[in-house]
Amino acid sequence: MSTEPKDVSVDARPKRQQTAKNIAQMKGGTPIVCLTAYITPMAARLDKYCDLLLVGDSVGMVLYGLESTLGVDVETMIRHGRAVCRGAKQALVVVDMPFGSYEESRELAFRNAARILSETGAGAVKLEGGVELADTIKFLTRRGIPVLGHVGLMPQSVHTNGGYGARGRSVDEWQPILEDAKAVQDAGAFAVVLEGVAEPLARKVTEEIAIPVIGIGASNACDGQILVTEDMLGLFAINPKFVKRYAELAAGIEDAIDSYAREVRTRAFPGEEHTYKMRGSNS
Ligand code: KIV
Repeated sequence: MSTEPKDVSVDARPKRQQTAKNIAQMKGGTPIVCLTAYITPMAARLDKYCDLLLVGDSVGMVLYGLESTLGVDVETMIRHGRAVCRGAKQALVVVDMPFGSYEESRELAFRNAARILSETGAGAVKLEGGVELADTIKFLTRRGIPVLGHVGLMPQSVHTNGGYGARGRSVDEWQPILEDAKAVQDAGAFAVVLEGVAEPLARKVTEEIAIPVIGIGASNACDGQILVTEDMLGLFAINPKFVKRYAELAAGIEDAIDSYAREVRTRAFPGEEHTYKMRGSNS
């Protein structure tokens, strides 16, 4: 048997657009790489490295300065979904269904999910909820709408579920989360995001369900990982335990802006090389 590590480089990835079906087939294989994206240039940068790009409702906090994700509406998700689809050629684009757009009835959920898919070009929607949303997920998936589930810590339920703390840190909290994950699977979701849970629970969920489990703050026992891109690039002030910062871009931006401000104030910018001359002049 070869001891060579598996090739997990960018070039190992298929060059066609990923679908929900492809992602479902990645269960138990090379971990699924996912990040959030909200705008075209970022999506274009992330695309060739990622299997899935999520247009998360975290857009409300990251780009619009909201305190939580609850104030995000369908129009905002559609606008950013379209922008991300313009930049993504390979990754599956999934758009979050915002708070209030799907909980009331499965018919409302269908209307909003259909709008999101048809007006953005995305390949799937994500919604938060387990057992109590299973009927809605089934209604959508049976009508041609691929659904990515989201269980464990569900930020849209922050007011009823008591904050953003990790779940499943004592065994008596496990059963409802396991039941949620199974319900989402049985309803036809192609994969499920598992957020903010202790490692042994994440491992158990991943072992016990047949669809990929994409973790965020859920250890490396999952079938894949997702992070908010601005968090891992050091562009967003909040830095929870589960975020590894792969860059400190906020500091780089500040340095650049500081240089710009100084150069404008001292007339060092714009220089000759940035200045239009009259036609026919030599310099
Ligand atoms: O909105 C979002 O960005 C998310 C991810 C953090 C999973 O739901």
